[in-house]
Amino acid sequence: MKTPNQLIIRRYPKSENKSLRSFSAADELIEEYIETENIALRAPVLLNDRFGYLACNFHKFSPISIVNYKSQEKALRQNMLDNSISIIEQNIIFPFDKINHEVEIAIVKVPKSLDLFRLQLQKLSKCLGENSQVICGFMTRHFSKQMLEIAGDYFEEVEQTKAKKKARLIILSKKKKTQSNSLFNEITFGNKTIKQYFGVFSANKIDQATEFFLDNLNVDSSADVILDLASGNGIIAHAIRQQNANAEIHLVDDSYLAVESSKLNLKDENTHHHFSDSLENFTPEFFNLIVSNPPYHFEYETNIEVALDLFKQVHKKLKTSGHFQMVSAVSLNFKTHLTKLFSKVEILAENDKFIVYDCVK
Ligand SMILES: C[S@@+](CC[C@H](N)C(=O)[O-])C[C@H]1O[C@@H](n2cnc3c(N)ncnc32)[C@H](O)[C@@H]1O
Repeated sequence: MKTPNQLIIRRYPKSENKSLRSFSAADELIEEYIETENIALRAPVLLNDRFGYLACNFHKFSPISIVNYKSQEKALRQNMLDNSISIIEQNIIFPFDKINHEVEIAIVKVPKSLDLFRLQLQKLSKCLGENSQVICGFMTRHFSKQMLEIAGDYFEEVEQTKAKKKARLIILSKKKKTQSNSLFNEITFGNKTIKQYFGVFSANKIDQATEFFLDNLNVDSSADVILDLASGNGIIAHAIRQQNANAEIHLVDDSYLAVESSKLNLKDENTHHHFSDSLENFTPEFFNLIVSNPPYHFEYETNIEVALDLFKQVHKKLKTSGHFQMVSAVSLNFKTHLTKLFSKVEILAENDKFIVYDCVK
């Protein structure tokens, strides 16, 4: 997609779905507000700039992008390269990295997870000055009163702008001195307590599909190299570790906060956590067993393309006769895709909502 400034912003990963866009009216409104209000940008901090629209448009002000997802980092780098914008390595940072200067302006695309919004404002407010402002953009259909409540926990002044093209801004200023410091949710499941940072999949309780999967997983005790793909807080890998004390277990997730959470829940030497949106760093035929509750939502979008691409990678990285076990909503009908890749696809369990497949390479 071409921006009003003639930059080309592409989605990563690519999508065949033409209705999925690489920026929104909320991005454009942020840009317009900064111009009309004559706001001086000096190394502004950008959050949830999914494909790098804001980083590319504001590049001459040396923005600092706080990147939540490996796929977001790849999109940002690709779009900067495509628009001949040089990348300043220290300006691409991750949610728990420290910012060592006072931030005057931060720009936040409000995420779907308002827990994540809270975590971001909490972290951000530590490096804001007395006169700093936070400009938050969102589409009006995603507005919730809770956004204002959370903003009000961290800032004295919370003002909304008028809507334009179904987008709106909230401007936050005068940060509060005392604030809550909580960053975690805890999920109790059986006799286990799983920790996860705000914004990680399935806050407060175990996801129903995950629970159904764990009830029906069939782990061969001889599987010694195992991957939990799209591992979230690591709950599936954790259950496997209880059954198989000696296996080498790898966890892969696109979300920085998910990986940081799984590190809290599985700490042994034979468990390896990878912040990645792909299996490109593993050699072919590496695993005996891959398990997954794969993604099919991102923020407000539903899209199975990422899952289908992951299935192809799974096939490559499994040993011959290795197993891929996964859960999904019945309605997604993944079987038609899985049978094109694997020599055998069986249903291990099914109820009215979820289905567990066992695929053999
Ligand atoms: C349905 S959740 C499952 C999380 C966890 N396994 C559970 O059952 O609670 C899907 C996870 O996929 C992750 N994800 C999305 N795209 C991914 C990708 N390309 N590679 C790896 N993980 C991805 C998301 O961050 C999310 O944590």
